[in-house]
Amino acid sequence: MEFSLQQDASQLDTASSVILPLSKASEGSDALTTDSLKTADKLLNGAISHAIASGDLSSKFKTSQLFLNAGPGPDRILVIGTGAPEQLSGRKYRQLVQAAWSQISSNPGPSVLNQLTTADTKSVDLHSKVRLAVEAIVQACYRFDQFKTNSKDVPPSPNMILLADTNSQAQLDQSVATAQAMNLCRDLGNLPGNVCTPSFLAEQGHKLAAGSSKVITQVLEEAEMESLGMHSLLSVGKGSAEPSKLIVINYQGGEEGAQPHVLVGKGITFDSGGISIKPGAAMDEMKYDMCGAASVMGAMQAVIDMDLKANVVAIVASAENMPSSTASKPGDIYTTMSGKTVEVLNTDAEGRLVLCDALTYAERFNPKTVVDVATLTGACIMALGHHISAVLSNDDQFATSLMAAGNQAFDNVWQLPMGEEYQEQLDSNFADLGNIGGRAAGTITAACFLSRFTESYTWAHLDIAGTAWTSGAKKGATGRCVPLLVQHLVNQA
Ligand code: BES
Ligand code: MN
Ligand code: ZN
Repeated sequence: MEFSLQQDASQLDTASSVILPLSKASEGSDALTTDSLKTADKLLNGAISHAIASGDLSSKFKTSQLFLNAGPGPDRILVIGTGAPEQLSGRKYRQLVQAAWSQISSNPGPSVLNQLTTADTKSVDLHSKVRLAVEAIVQACYRFDQFKTNSKDVPPSPNMILLADTNSQAQLDQSVATAQAMNLCRDLGNLPGNVCTPSFLAEQGHKLAAGSSKVITQVLEEAEMESLGMHSLLSVGKGSAEPSKLIVINYQGGEEGAQPHVLVGKGITFDSGGISIKPGAAMDEMKYDMCGAASVMGAMQAVIDMDLKANVVAIVASAENMPSSTASKPGDIYTTMSGKTVEVLNTDAEGRLVLCDALTYAERFNPKTVVDVATLTGACIMALGHHISAVLSNDDQFATSLMAAGNQAFDNVWQLPMGEEYQEQLDSNFADLGNIGGRAAGTITAACFLSRFTESYTWAHLDIAGTAWTSGAKKGATGRCVPLLVQHLVNQA
């Protein structure tokens, strides 16, 4: 879908469909108050004011009427109630946009003028409304039916014109890049584990490089990782027939020599648990255990699209975690690239085992900041549910800046603490550290494990176990935390 901006609210004849917000104030007892409603009412010979007077239409949240117009101007005009401005949060605003879109999506014609960017809000500014409208509509149009033999025909998508001044163009460009990057992230996540293997992710890394002269992708194979001493990462894929990969995507959009911002993604293309095998229920969802990698790759695609003026490096640590006679076992000890030894007490705590070596590898880029993203712990779902991701960091200021980026992007994260009292839970009798810290505070001890490998730079860890996909009837990848990552990089650039 193409997006563009229009400034003049009362010029309705630019589109085949028009969406107009109706607020308490604009519903006014005797006269419509906004220019666009007045113009539309005139085109429709008073049908809008009549519908309000007769009680068929009101400013109540998501109450709508679709008016067909046989005369000059747009073919259809949808008027939708926005509810009370103080109750129209970003989340509710997204629902409003999707409700409006669902009323016209089956036949919008070639273009839609969407004026919901002028909806009366208390806490959501214009730029946020541009962002949310773009992301909500792209999300509503998202389909993943490439494995259905009878996939339904999708109607051609219209040009979407948002009402906003030209000051919003940069915001629009970022929003479109973000929304498309979320779709890439969703696609990679939704692909089954027999298709989306570490080798497949490596190809995706090469594809990103093929699309931009500023990107160089390098894939480290097992032999190379072996010689670098990445025995922890390699231990995870030992039970799998699929070779593990370390995918390094290097974007040079900033000054030569400027320190890069590094993103590290967990790319476990299927997590069976290994010898510490998981129970069978919903195990299919462990194909989503590469969503950290998918969001990092999505963010890179957005960076390329926006031609961001910064240096950014993405590192994806990818393996398949399977049980077999060659798999690693509980009690096995491996030496990480950093030289520290790890006792694998549970082969299902594999994410930290691949990430620790990727985080050590990140040192060679002399990073300004490093953010790793991972579906790391079930405990994170217990702590924060499915609404908010966790952030843990060795620098409180950095964590605060990521929470701010999350707020800006409506992709929220909440900080959990880290401290030496939790670090002690990782003590091992036989190695420098164990890979699990017991049942209590599982998200924190997982981050504590990672923190042992990030001492030389500013680092934060995002646990997206609860937010990366939804289960149940609407099972599917969400595209989170692409918006947060993109906003973080834009803020840093
Ligand atoms: N990928 C899982 C975490 C996960 C589980 C994310 C369910 C989303 C839904 C991770 O590799 C894992 O298995 N973690 C273990 C750690 C434990 C063994 C210390 C967990 O959370 O149970
Ligand atoms: Mn696991
Ligand atoms: Zn996992």
